[in-house]
Amino acid sequence: MSKKNIAIFASGGGSNAQKMIDYFANSTTVNVALIVSNKADAGVLGIAERHGIPALVIQRNGFYHSEQLLDDLRAAGIDFIVLAGFLWLIPPYLIQAFPQKIVNIHPALLPKYGGKGMYGMHVHEAVKAAGEPETGITIHYVNEHYDEGDIVFSAKTAITPADNPADIARKVQQLEHAHFPQVVDQLVAAL
Ligand code: GAR
Repeated sequence: MSKKNIAIFASGGGSNAQKMIDYFANSTTVNVALIVSNKADAGVLGIAERHGIPALVIQRNGFYHSEQLLDDLRAAGIDFIVLAGFLWLIPPYLIQAFPQKIVNIHPALLPKYGGKGMYGMHVHEAVKAAGEPETGITIHYVNEHYDEGDIVFSAKTAITPADNPADIARKVQQLEHAHFPQVVDQLVAAL
């Protein structure tokens, strides 16, 4: 059986992309075939370069007003898309072309602390301000709304009163790194 090709979309440093690349480095079933970023200076592009993985920087206009990216994904033989800190809303043509084949990771327990503008430290600051006793991660399929598709996995971590937003971010990141690659592995195996 040939390997399934995944594309990782990321806007930032790419620590989850890095974990994903490491996890699948010797996989016989999954190949990280493409990195897509909307930011020309995103750290994730350096990670792609170091690992010899093709990368694509996309522009907002082309992303929303053409379907060029679809051609690029097809040319790369992409079977599944992983959003790892990708901050643009996914347009309908992409969702229709990859039905239940796009997953996102969110750094909180959805449906709480999701939606537009809820990313990165904004999420952890809101969780802290609300005095939540716990937070976590949610991995979900992507639909046309921010953070609303079917949930496939979640994991929790406790918050102590002494934890500041940076502490919360660290706890959440540990959960992301521990679970996201395995969950993607399982979802791709079921394709
Ligand atoms: C991750 O914590 C991810 O959950 C979050 O961005 C971070 C990316 O970190 N995504 C969102 O907030 C989406 N709303 P990374 O670049 O180190 O992987």
